[in-house]
Amino acid sequence: MKSITFALAKGRLSDISIGIFEKLGYDVSQMKEKSRKLIFYDEKNKIKFILVKASDVPTYVEYQAADIGIVGYDTILEEGRHVYEMLNLNFGNCKMCVCGRPEMKDSFYKIHNLKVATKYPNIAKEFFEKEKKMGAEIIKLNGSVELAPLTGLSEVIVDIVESGKTLVENGLCVFEEICDISARLIVNRVSLKMERERINDIVEKIKGVII
Ligand code: PRP
Repeated sequence: MKSITFALAKGRLSDISIGIFEKLGYDVSQMKEKSRKLIFYDEKNKIKFILVKASDVPTYVEYQAADIGIVGYDTILEEGRHVYEMLNLNFGNCKMCVCGRPEMKDSFYKIHNLKVATKYPNIAKEFFEKEKKMGAEIIKLNGSVELAPLTGLSEVIVDIVESGKTLVENGLCVFEEICDISARLIVNRVSLKMERERINDIVEKIKGVII
């Protein structure tokens, strides 16, 4: 029997994802060791786990290098890959927001060609251009996005807000909420057709442990 391959996002979602598989009785002992290994096998249950950079999880699933992935809805929206979103796992809850310095809160939308710094250029573009019908210059960053309005790189940022601590500690605030974010289970459509019974069985078991 062929293994079912799971792509797990490295980073903030990985510990909870590994915890779910541990509760299901899968062998995750090696994954918990935090080595540099990227592939793990549970031979008994015919499951393979790969640890992937979060933004690459939908790519692995779209190309069927993984059958199933666990990744944040922020990444799913940003990457726009052809994957089937099967389950809202309801952990890693946060919000995608427009944020900036408090004194700009009531006037930012009047700025011509608003500068928006973000790790999520597609989400930001979609929100400002399509939804708000505003001209916006999207500036792609790779981290510590909160620095952008503090250094004059941009007027606002589009980023995830979880506890709100990073905003508060840097004197920023939420201007507008774009959408709710949480971890999702995504599946390759061909895998779902070919392995429907096994995948449905795994998904039902996951549902049982996340409730
Ligand atoms: C994320 C996000 C915010 C912060 C929000 O960054 O980009 O900066 O977490 O969390 P909070 O509301 O609980 O403070 P991350 O920690 O992934 O680091 P990065 O900025 O280097 O990407």
